[in-house]
Amino acid sequence: MQTANVHIERYDPESGACRTETYSVELKENDTVLQALLRIYEERDSTLAFRHGCRGSRCGQCVLQVDGMPRLACATRARDGMTLSPLKNLPSLRDLIFDRSAVDRRISSQRLYVMPPIQAALGELSVPEAYGRLIGCLECYGCMASCPRFDWRDESFGGPYVFVRLALLHLDPRDQEDRRAQARALGVDECAGCSACRCVKGIAIRRDAIGMLLGQES
Ligand code: SF4
Ligand code: SF4
Ligand code: FES
Repeated sequence: MQTANVHIERYDPESGACRTETYSVELKENDTVLQALLRIYEERDSTLAFRHGCRGSRCGQCVLQVDGMPRLACATRARDGMTLSPLKNLPSLRDLIFDRSAVDRRISSQRLYVMPPIQAALGELSVPEAYGRLIGCLECYGCMASCPRFDWRDESFGGPYVFVRLALLHLDPRDQEDRRAQARALGVDECAGCSACRCVKGIAIRRDAIGMLLGQES
C-alpha cells in the first residue's frame, strides 16, 4: 500500500463553479484509476461524480483525462500525483462526467449508420482488413479530446470519432452513401497536416480512418 495524492477537476452545474480537489488515498500496486476513484468515492467523498460500467475495457463509459490525455480509467494504472479531468472539447455535466449528447446528435443528423437500412447481415459479406482494425471502437468519444480542431459547438468539423465512423461505413459493403464526400463536407481535408488524434484502444485513427477517407491508403 502506498498513500497517493489524486487531483480531480470538479464542476458543479448548480453554481457553475470549477475547482481542483486533492484526495489522499491508499493505492495498491497495479491499482487502476477506476479503483482509485471508487476508493475515493467509498471512503472520502460520495459526492464525486464519474461513470463506469464493465471495468474491463469493453464499454467505454469510464473514459476521462489522466494528466491531460484521454484514457480508460479501468485500463490505466493509478499513480501518485495524477490529475483527473473530464474530456475537454465536450460540455461537462458534473465533475468527471461529460455530455455525450453533443456527439450523439451528430450520429443522427449526419445519418452515421448503414444506409439504406440493412439488407444482409455483415457476417455473410467480406469486408476489407481495415474494417477489422476500426470495428473495435468503443464509441467512448475519448479521441475527441485529443483533437485541436474539434469543438462540440461547431458542426462544420466532424472530429476523430465521426471520421472513424465514416470510415467504417465507407468500408461496409452494405452502405450505399458517398462517405468520402461526407467526410470532406465535415472538414477532413483540415486533417492533412495533423496527426494528433489519440484513441484509448490504440486504433490508428489518422492512418486507418482519416488517411483512408483522404484516399491515402498505405
Ligand atoms: S488529424 Fe488532427 S485535426 Fe484531424 S481529427 Fe485528428 S486530431 Fe483532429
Ligand atoms: S476511436 Fe478510440 S477513442 Fe475514439 S471513440 Fe473509438 S474507442 Fe474511443
Ligand atoms: S468501465 Fe467499461 S471500459 Fe472502463
